[in-house]
Amino acid sequence: MSADKSTSWSYTEGLPNEDDVLLRARERSHELGIFPVSPGVGSALTVLAAASKAQTAVEIGTGAGVSGVCLLRGLNRQSVLTTIDVDVDHLKAAREAFVESGSPANRTRTISGRAADVLPRLTDSAYDLVFIDADKPSYPGYIEQAIRLLKPGGLLIVNDALDKDRVSDPAIRDAGTVVLRQVGKTVREDERLMSALLPTGDGLLLAVKR
Ligand SMILES: C[S@@+](CC[C@H](N)C(=O)[O-])C[C@H]1O[C@@H](n2cnc3c(N)ncnc32)[C@H](O)[C@@H]1O
Repeated sequence: MSADKSTSWSYTEGLPNEDDVLLRARERSHELGIFPVSPGVGSALTVLAAASKAQTAVEIGTGAGVSGVCLLRGLNRQSVLTTIDVDVDHLKAAREAFVESGSPANRTRTISGRAADVLPRLTDSAYDLVFIDADKPSYPGYIEQAIRLLKPGGLLIVNDALDKDRVSDPAIRDAGTVVLRQVGKTVREDERLMSALLPTGDGLLLAVKR
């Protein structure tokens, strides 16, 4: 195996052919200073949502709706995406993207607030999929909440799990990277979960609840 994977990474990220809805959501993200999921992660979210056959999904970190549109495109037409963000301007931009994507309003439940306050109000074992893409220092708490929210067989997806190649370098010890390195270890060692780490985007950590 060749050591340098950057060519394959660029090739993979260049493959998705994003439509105008996603390109406009990316533009709004840029204007609001949001970093949306990469095209490779977006297409992976669509496939994972479809494969999971999820009826109920939770997203932590709506942004301007790039990942939400990708999830909605994979979920079936009866499913509902609950998406949480602390910033009302981000939620407003995301709602525009959801409307433009042709998704009926009753398929998305947008909740404004800090995820740490909102998640405890959601019902135990009621969700098929949880996607985490918000403030990194809070990931350990979000993962505990996600395990509580997921049904058996439900899918957990954590974005940025490799933190721009920093997690794999043990010499990098800044607080943000240490949290993400620990999150990976905790999920791998958690007997309630079966996990895999994909190098897509900045790293996509996947786990199924047993
Ligand atoms: C990386 S962006 C999400 C991008 C989005 N998933 C996408 O791909 O389009 C992170 C989002 O998390 C939100 N956020 C940050 N801290 C939060 C918190 N404590 N609770 C809820 N949302 C938070 C930010 O406002 C921002 O919109």
